[in-house]
Amino acid sequence: MKKSAAKLQNQLEHLREQIRSHEHKYFVEDKPQISDAEFDALVNELRQLEAEHPDLITPDSPTQRVGGKPREGFVQIPHSTPMQSLDNAYSEEELLDFDRRVREGLGRESVEYVAELKLDGMSMAVRYKDGVLGKAVTRGDGSIGEDVTQNARTIRSLPLKISPDDMKKAGLRGEFEVRGEVLLGRKAFERINDEREESGLPRFANPRNAAAGSIRILEPGIVAERHLDYFPYLLLADGRVPFAEHWETLENLRRLGLKVNRNRKKCCDMQEAIAYCAEWESKRDKLPYEIDGVVIKVNSIPLQQELGSTARAPRWAIAYKYAAQQATTRVERIEIQVGRTGALTPVAHLTPVPLGGVTVQRATLHNEDEIRRLGLRIGDTVVIERGGDVIPKVVRVDLEAREKAGEEFQMPDACPVCKGHVMRAEGAVAWRCMNANCPAQLKESILHFAGRKAMNIDGLGEALVDQLVEKKFLQNVADLYQLKQEQLEALDRMGKKSAENLLREIDRSRGSSLDRLIFSLGIRFVGERTAKLLAGHFGSLDQMMTASQEELEGIFEVGPKVAASIRAFFEEQANRRMVERLRKEKLSFEMTGFQPRSNTLAGKTFVLTGTLEHVTRDEARRRIEQAGGRVTGTVSKKTDYVVAGADPGSKLEKARELGVPIIHEQELDALLAR
Ligand code: IVH
Repeated sequence: MKKSAAKLQNQLEHLREQIRSHEHKYFVEDKPQISDAEFDALVNELRQLEAEHPDLITPDSPTQRVGGKPREGFVQIPHSTPMQSLDNAYSEEELLDFDRRVREGLGRESVEYVAELKLDGMSMAVRYKDGVLGKAVTRGDGSIGEDVTQNARTIRSLPLKISPDDMKKAGLRGEFEVRGEVLLGRKAFERINDEREESGLPRFANPRNAAAGSIRILEPGIVAERHLDYFPYLLLADGRVPFAEHWETLENLRRLGLKVNRNRKKCCDMQEAIAYCAEWESKRDKLPYEIDGVVIKVNSIPLQQELGSTARAPRWAIAYKYAAQQATTRVERIEIQVGRTGALTPVAHLTPVPLGGVTVQRATLHNEDEIRRLGLRIGDTVVIERGGDVIPKVVRVDLEAREKAGEEFQMPDACPVCKGHVMRAEGAVAWRCMNANCPAQLKESILHFAGRKAMNIDGLGEALVDQLVEKKFLQNVADLYQLKQEQLEALDRMGKKSAENLLREIDRSRGSSLDRLIFSLGIRFVGERTAKLLAGHFGSLDQMMTASQEELEGIFEVGPKVAASIRAFFEEQANRRMVERLRKEKLSFEMTGFQPRSNTLAGKTFVLTGTLEHVTRDEARRRIEQAGGRVTGTVSKKTDYVVAGADPGSKLEKARELGVPIIHEQELDALLAR
């Protein structure tokens, strides 16, 4: 017998409520009431029912945490109230100074504070409308952030729905915004780093970078696996805090089902707050996540308002930052890591030592000079340090502990990854691998090659390059021109249409001007401007490749450093092979490539959307480029105009959101005719 619709709805809602409540118990309160298997059974039951009745799926259903994808990247969204930063204090004196300023500013003898842990993550604002999670936006530059809603939805401690009852208890209605920190626990951080190492990626230096990187992954399924957490510390309704005290904000956030950090304290004066800082300095290693200090805030909201803010930070709060933690251990050997830009970094491999809640096995030695400065020999006992935001570094050698001087370290004379030539440019501290297609540098080289100022291959972003390199479809930038439709279609998030578009873009890039080609090779110190000078001087890539150091130095604005770098690039056989392959792919090696006819639209960036009336989009693009302008595929705050034809796509919405001027074909014609 078929269930009545109302009954089904009830059953679904009941299941969802049960799951939400268990999610809260598990992810927010850390007190599960049922076993994982029982929880999974409930979720499976809901999934099953929803699969049978897809029309009854609601976006706030617990099954919908991993849903839609941010399509092409993240849309930028302005913050209604700026997301401020905090001023720092590094000593008790500085805290007392802050307290004095606060009391003087308010004309009061004493002020009540709230002390909270300073979580080492990334701040994010989450907007709720009628209790439903609407948008999640990263801090960005404080004024504009990125829409990371689809990823934030995967954070299990962040409710997708808040019940009307809980809203009422907190005295809230309609819209409000929660601000807090996206965080990665120590365990998740270690796991992700181990996985990255296994797949040949550099480890994240700290949980903050890992959290910031994770919330910006374009694939919510992968974000979900990162097990991010969210701790709120602020609530705004209509741009202001709707409570009398900050303490009340925290209590209400907790009532709303968010995971407010339980380690917080109301302090009747600064002395009490200072004691709290000291208490946590010794206990911080025991926390399951990293903290880098304690935030101390004036509790009364009216007093906060009275104190106001500077351009950067509120005057009513201060971050007390802990000093770097140190430990002593032994350097077992020194290995070389090749970074994404080709820099060779010596890394000390240490006897594992606990430091700040993690086991440290490696520390950076930065460069050759640093090793000499430290006077470090292999086998030495060293003091290492972990600051809030760096991988451990060696601060000094304990010479007294040295029994006999170990071997002196020598930088290798070839890249340990690809055996390519290494070079230390004049005045530079780092040795670099000169092979642009060194596997360690490949992704970066390809992204640079495809970049807007280089070959401008629209649609070839980070997520795609990652896949192409991992699948070994690209081992060299020249491989781009050999990519096949079937290969592209087999990638994640690549349909037939987008594969066709990308191939068209790649093909189009063959006609890029010589200066763009020179820039895209990624020769160190050869920026956009130098590339133009070189193109203008030589007129062809072949002339430039065979030019001597003297001839290069003779060019206006090209100094010995740049000249040496160009020579070293073309002396590397792997680079010459790549250039020869690009020649075979018919890229323009001569100045005959496209040169804009005028400068009417120089510096202006356009995005085309919808069907134009009189010309095709390709033709419109050609005309804009002829006039010195640029056409890109994504609307951002850097876009100058969006040209909208009939049936425009989502780009129009983005333009409206960002306040980018929208023009029509006639207006474009007028601009071109100027
Ligand atoms: S309050 C205007 N509270 O620290 C108030 N921030 O160094 C702004 N942070 O951007 C922030 N834990 O990302 C506040 N309990 C806490 C915090 C906290 C971590 C971060 C936040 C902020 C940064 C400033």
